[in-house]
Amino acid sequence: MNAIVLRSLGGPDVLALERVADPHPEAGEAVVRLHAAALNHRDVWIRKGQYAGITLPVIPGSDGAGEVVETGPGVDPAWRGRAVVIDPSVNWGDNERAQGPSFNILGLPRDGTYAELVKVAADHLYEKPRHLSWEEAAAVPLASVTAYRALVTRAQATAGETVVVTGIGGGVATCVLLLGVHLGVRVYVTSGSDAKLDAARSHGAAGGVNHHDPEWPKAIAALIGDRPDVVIDGAAGETFNRALDLVKPGGRVVSYGATTGPTKNLEARRIFWKQLNVLGSTMGSPRDFAAMLEIYAGGLRPIVDQVLPLDQAAAAHRRMEEGAQFGKIVLRIWD
Ligand SMILES: NC(=O)c1ccc[n+]([C@@H]2O[C@H](COP(=O)([O-])OP(=O)(O)OC[C@H]3O[C@@H](n4cnc5c(N)ncnc54)[C@H](OP(=O)(O)O)[C@@H]3O)[C@@H](O)[C@H]2O)c1
Repeated sequence: MNAIVLRSLGGPDVLALERVADPHPEAGEAVVRLHAAALNHRDVWIRKGQYAGITLPVIPGSDGAGEVVETGPGVDPAWRGRAVVIDPSVNWGDNERAQGPSFNILGLPRDGTYAELVKVAADHLYEKPRHLSWEEAAAVPLASVTAYRALVTRAQATAGETVVVTGIGGGVATCVLLLGVHLGVRVYVTSGSDAKLDAARSHGAAGGVNHHDPEWPKAIAALIGDRPDVVIDGAAGETFNRALDLVKPGGRVVSYGATTGPTKNLEARRIFWKQLNVLGSTMGSPRDFAAMLEIYAGGLRPIVDQVLPLDQAAAAHRRMEEGAQFGKIVLRIWD
């Protein structure tokens, strides 16, 4: 099969297409012929060597949609020919509160979805929502399960509450926006780009401010006419401190990422004086994944930024590193 194999760490050009052996399923596994894969910022961190536990060579990619072409012993052969999306959370474990010690993510250490074929445990297969194109379906899994767990399972945001989402151009952030709007939450956003703020409004955001304005927390509180009930943040750095300042007393701040690096000078006083709930969130359990997918099956569509062919994975990574995207960057593998 053709696949992008990461053999060394570095710039986007290390992502070259090559011929490798087809995978074959072992007991409990299935092989999916992928029509499309999608990028996550994790793929960029891995390629640059800024991720824990990197072992090379590896085929990157956590998101994929395709057709089951082969099933291993113990797997219902009725899966063959079915259109599926893949849950990228491997070995979540049996605790809904947190993943277990053997948790890992498709695309490292297991070979991932930047390939014509991928081998996964059959219990990671879910029916593809029929109304979604292959590209849209591939855009759903990792970002949407992360968004669902952050917004619903962890923040327990409810209709009528106000939620601020930082860095709305990001894949996860756009999914929080879509799910929030779907659930009747009033979603406000920040972005480094005014064009992305406009795009967010067109997808249902109630308003937004540019985070290059040093007074952005004041500006967004003025827009809301109050402080938000919840802030969902994947930027970290100084943004996380500002999120703690911005949220209502008794509010919730969910942290799911650190795109801009570590948060320095975190003051506990900010947290205890305002009676805040600071919630960490990573990916999601199989229950989160199924609940998230049910919402999409009801008609929701993810936001696809751009679709590029698999052999242009390097260009796709460049776009993500530049932060040029609004939504998910997708790789087309098979028409
Ligand atoms: N814990 C988990 O399970 C999990 C899952 C997925 C992702 N993540 C992490 O979450 C982060 C986002 O992932 P992704 O795949 O959605 O990445 P992405 O698509 O590359 O999005 C990153 C976004 O960060 C925003 N950003 C940049 N500087 C910012 C700032 N100063 N303040 C606020 N926002 C800023 C940008 O938004 P604008 O262009 O709108 O400014 C950019 O689009 C990454 O750090 C990733 O590693 C964690």
